[in-house]
Parts: sequence; C-alpha cells; structure tokens
Amino acid sequence: MQHRIAENWHYVTFLALLVGLLSSAMYSQQNSQENKLIVDADQGHYTINPNIYGEFAEHLGRDIYGGIYVGEDSSIPNTNGIRNDIVEALRKMRIPVLRWPGGCFADEYHWMDGIGPKDQRPSMVNTHWGYVTENNHFGTHEFLELCNLLGCEPYICGNLGSGTVQEMQQWVEYITSDADSPMTRLRKKNGRVEPWKLKFWGVGNENWGCGGNMKPAFYADQYLRYATYLRDFGDNHLYRIACGPNAANYEWTETVMNALTGGYRPRVQGLSLHYYTRVRRFGPGMRADRSLSNSATQFGEKEWFRIMQGTLFMNELVQKHGTIMDKYDPEKRIGLIVDEWGTWYDVEPGTNPRFLYQQNSLRDALVAGLTLNIFNNHCDRVQMGNIAQTVNVLQAVILTKDGQMILTPTYHVFEMYKVHQGATMLPVDLQTAQYSFDGESIPELSAAASKDASGKIHVSLCNMDPNKVAALNCEFHGTAVQSVTGRVLTANVMTAHNTFEEPEAVEPTTFSDFQINGSTVNVNLPPMSVIVLEVE
Ligand code: AHR
Repeated sequence: MQHRIAENWHYVTFLALLVGLLSSAMYSQQNSQENKLIVDADQGHYTINPNIYGEFAEHLGRDIYGGIYVGEDSSIPNTNGIRNDIVEALRKMRIPVLRWPGGCFADEYHWMDGIGPKDQRPSMVNTHWGYVTENNHFGTHEFLELCNLLGCEPYICGNLGSGTVQEMQQWVEYITSDADSPMTRLRKKNGRVEPWKLKFWGVGNENWGCGGNMKPAFYADQYLRYATYLRDFGDNHLYRIACGPNAANYEWTETVMNALTGGYRPRVQGLSLHYYTRVRRFGPGMRADRSLSNSATQFGEKEWFRIMQGTLFMNELVQKHGTIMDKYDPEKRIGLIVDEWGTWYDVEPGTNPRFLYQQNSLRDALVAGLTLNIFNNHCDRVQMGNIAQTVNVLQAVILTKDGQMILTPTYHVFEMYKVHQGATMLPVDLQTAQYSFDGESIPELSAAASKDASGKIHVSLCNMDPNKVAALNCEFHGTAVQSVTGRVLTANVMTAHNTFEEPEAVEPTTFSDFQINGSTVNVNLPPMSVIVLEVE
C-alpha cells in the first residue's frame, strides 16, 4: 500500500513538473510574442539633454504669487520672498531649466515695470489671467535669483506681441552686458553689479494666438527683425527660440523654418512646440466629445483611455514636425523646444476659472512618464521640454495651500526619471501588446533607456492598461546584467491623488517583481504603473 502511494506521488510530481514546464514555455512564448523589449546597450549615440526635464512658471493664478513667491514679510519660510520648501523640492527633482514669465502673459509683460524698489514698481492688470492686479514684485532680479537658488538655467520669453524691438533688446542688455551703458548702470543701481549668464531667450509666445494672432510668414519677418538686435554681450551666447506651432499646425513649422534658415539671417537655435492633452479632443479634425468628464479626479476608463491616446499623439507631433525641420536643418542644429505641454482639465470646483488650478492623479503620472519617454527617444531633435506649469497651475508638480505644500504624482515621475538627464540614450525596440477599450486600441507599454556616465543603465517603463499586469521580457544586448533594482509609481485606483490631508497617497516604492535570466530581465508591470529599473 505504502509502495503504491509512493508510486502515485512520483506520478503526481512528474505531472506537476510537466504542467509547470508546459505553462512556463507557453508563458514565455506568449510573452515573447506580446511584450518584448530589446535594449541596445552598446549602441548609444545621442545625449539626453537634461533640459528635456524642464518646467514653466507663468504669472497666472497661484503659480508665482503664493506658489513660488510669498514676499519677504511672509510667515512662510522664504529667502528674499522665495519659498524655501518649493526650492528644496524642485532641487530634489533636479529641475534643469525654468521658463518665465509666460505664456500669454509674456506678450503683455513690460520688464521695466518689474525692476527697482518694489514699492515704486507700477502695477498692471493681468488681462489674460482673470484681470487681477499684478504688482510686479516678482520681476527680473527675483526670477534670476530663483534660478540661482534652484541651480537651474533661466529661460526668458520676451514680449514680441505688444512690446518693441528696443524693449526686448534692452532687456537682454540689462541682464547680460558688462559694458558701461545706461542699461548696465540701471542694473547696478538696482543692486546687481555683475551681469548674469543667460542662454535661453524666446522671441514671443504663441504668436499665432494670444501673442498677436499672426500668420506664420508675418511672424517669421517679425522674428528676424527682433532677433537681429538680440546681441551676444561679452562671452554670453544666446540660444534664440522662435515661436513654433500649436500642435499639428505643420504649415507654421514649414513657413517659419523656411524663412529662418535661408541665406544670411540672424541665427535661430530653437523652435518651440506647444501641445496640451485634453480629454475631449486631441487630434486634427477630432470632434469634441462633451459626454466625457473633464474633471482631474472624477473620471472613468473612457477618460483614462482618451488621455493616454492624446498623450501618445505627442510622438506623431514630434516626428512630423521633426521631418519638416530635417528638410531645412538636416544636421539637427535647431532644437525642437516643447516649452508647453501637459494635461488641461476643468479647474477644481470653487476656484477661479482663469487660475487653471487642477488636481493631479495617477493618470497624470502616466502622461508624464509617456511624454518623457517620447522626448528621450527623440533626443536627437528634442532639446528641451517645459511642462505647464510648476506650481498650482495645470499639470503642476507641486500644489500649495497657504504654508502647506504637496508633491503630485507628476512630481514623482520627474524625480524618478531624473536619472536620464544627461545620459546617453539607448535605442529600444519594443514589441507591445495592445490595450483596447471601446473598439479602439493603443500600445499597452512604453519604454525608454539610457546609460549614465558611470555605466548604469536605466529603463523607464509605463503600463497604460488599468486592468492587466503586463509581463515583459527585457533583453539587453551588448552588456551583461549583474544586478537590477527598481522603483514603481502606481495605486489601486486610477483616480488616486495626493491631498493636503493625505499627501503620500501616491508615492514611489521599491519595485522587485522581476527575475534576471542571463541578459534578460522578466518584469511584471502592475496595471497603470510607471517603473524605472536600474541595471548594472
Ligand atoms: O499654460 C497656460 C497657457 O497656455 C499659456 O499662457 C499659453 O502660452 C498657452 O495657451
């Protein structure tokens, strides 16, 4: 009897092993057919410009006033009026560049109103953003001090829409010249003896819209005129950024690139692109679907899917505008500067509709992860990105309530992805299953990879599917895999977000759901997650 039981156990063990082997073979076959990522670890060619991870702060709502700047007399801890908690958080995220003062505000901003003793600065009405009174207490000196505290590059957008050539020319001279002139004497009188170093200069903002409603040929002529007088003083070299298209306006890119690249011209170093991800419409010819919820936190899978779809459209935009730019600039000397991007929802209930204050959920984290993967993978052309905006406006990385501050899921993605800054982009070949909803499909996964100066490889992965764990075989070519660590940002519900009451509801945690098999790493990505792996 005992013998028979032992025999049966052998039989049962054999069957179990067989089933195990078969299912693991089927699993890996299904895996290799569906989700497979090849990382060419020895094929890196382009550097990921750290500025791809940049920010944008406008005089809009509570971005500058209350968010970044509270004034010297505030009880909120500050350095010359600039909030210490915000500086610390942005430094930790390794902010590389900050664009200012707008946006639409830039083309009605007159910089001379924002210098000198604060009690003597004239005020103005911010007509774009709620007709509120702007007291000009945060001006050129304060912005450049902020960038100094943050350790980031300043990027100033000049006023072409309603300002003069002389005004723009003098602003550059005031900031960067070390010669003796009325402008530099004025700067010294205002307390700054040495010129600042300033590289990035935008020649107008959205001049096809709020910046003057111009046609592309007219703007190109204006650009040439203004840019002629934007001088390089001493050893300061400006990187001049022309106003580029809105989303899929390819005609704008074609006309402006054509006009700015032929013959003897004041040089242009960058062309901007603006694209916002909206629930109700994203592509050309797409009808706005009013039945969808436009709330930042009250939404379902329909709205989740639309936002993922809309975010992926950035890939097409970068490719198509890039192809036009290739025609006029095959050596890729002119950077594509995506200096406004992010989600745009309804404002939070009870807040000023022109202050654009919105919450930020796990869905926004996916938007950030996908967009940054797209920028990384196109880093031969994309030289800067500036998410809109830094604090309390649109897809903000930080929200404040008086003296309190919370980090959004978007912040955490920027902080997790900072390892890509300045690293060499590694080409990736991703075969991904589809995530389908309501008869439409998008890729389930997105990926980007880079190798840093110390030889560490980082792979950033997004699983857009809110319902399914995605099994991914990640094969590394041209390197051995010794060890892997990971971090993940996810939650149980797609609307998860941080609040002042629960500031750590969505935070990165250690990720360990992977196995190393030779030079392959088998990863299980949780539904709706952003992951960064570090491979040595
Ligand atoms: O980011 C908000 C606004 O969106 C900016 O001021 C403008 O440039 C864009 O239309």
